[in-house]
Amino acid sequence: MAITGSGSAVPANLLDNQGLTKLVDTSDEWITTRTGIRQRRLADKSESLAALATAAGRKALAASGITAQDLDLILLATSTPDDLFGSACQIQGELRASNAVAFDLTAACSGFVFGLVTASQYIRTGTYQNILLIGADILSRWVDWQDRRTCVLFGDGAGSVVLQANSCDRLLGFELKSDGSQNNDLNLAYKPESTALSESVNVGKGNFQPITMNGKEVYRFAVQKVPEVIDKALFRANLSVDQIDWLLLHQANQRIIDAVRSRLNIPEHKVISNLAYYGNTSAASIPLALDEAVQQGKIKPGDVIVTSGFGAGLSWGAAIFQWGR
Ligand code: UT7
Repeated sequence: MAITGSGSAVPANLLDNQGLTKLVDTSDEWITTRTGIRQRRLADKSESLAALATAAGRKALAASGITAQDLDLILLATSTPDDLFGSACQIQGELRASNAVAFDLTAACSGFVFGLVTASQYIRTGTYQNILLIGADILSRWVDWQDRRTCVLFGDGAGSVVLQANSCDRLLGFELKSDGSQNNDLNLAYKPESTALSESVNVGKGNFQPITMNGKEVYRFAVQKVPEVIDKALFRANLSVDQIDWLLLHQANQRIIDAVRSRLNIPEHKVISNLAYYGNTSAASIPLALDEAVQQGKIKPGDVIVTSGFGAGLSWGAAIFQWGR
């Protein structure tokens, strides 16, 4: 398989750190030094997840030179669909990708990496030839805007890539992991209220609660587990660290990116980071940064990219691939 094009889309609305100081007791200095984030894009009420994801998908299709009609599969990595039944089919409809099957995949901030590996398997088995993978999230819908521990971190966006069957397999290695024992450290949980339907029958009709996170624990987890999983993926790819051209981690915190880079002994100039401008966009963060680096001409065909996603589940994973055909 090969990754033959990328695209991205973000909402127009921008909120900088100064703007957040009007909502919660925080400062630009705290947010910048603890996270590296300076601003984020936020979707307004009229902007749907499906529309953002479709816009990113269209650009990836154009970049790869195929049409929506050529697609066999649309895979949407998201935790924030417009519809709990899934939003991928809406995207398929919007794109008029009538030959494609479409479904959602939920793995929080690991969603893009899990999606990349999942999509690759369909190509490797010869089942599908052309796949549109989109990572998109609108976490602003689920953030408690009064909770300074979380609301300063997240932003909204979408990023996408096209995967195609290719004579040379450009997915060089991967490793995916889950640990449900730490599930409570990062949640967007459903809270049921007991609703009586009859004397003996109750149902749990409720709503989802805002994001809660044990930041310190998740930080510790990321800094320890991400280098491990990258090492394993490198081993699988039979590559050494110095053969990597780019390190592209989930954009959660610049301190996490720096710590992982330093543990792996990767030089600073090989790091791709844009979280200063978008915050943590969950499943969108990796393809958003990837697309930006491709647009800027940083990433070139043949470059070896190490990517790693980590977050709720807890889930984490790494994938190593070569850009282009
Ligand atoms: O995408 C999913 C993966 N998520 C992550 O990777 C997030 C991982 N965690 C982190 O990135 C960091 O833990 C945070 C950025 C969330 C927090 O940074 P920290 O250095 O771990 O700060 P902390 O939670 O230990 O808080 C330090 C202090 C506390 O005050 P006290 O108790 O020391 O008096 C907090 O109440 O900073 C306070 N604080 C704030 N102050 C100003 C927490 N949030 C804020 C804030 N503004 N927004």
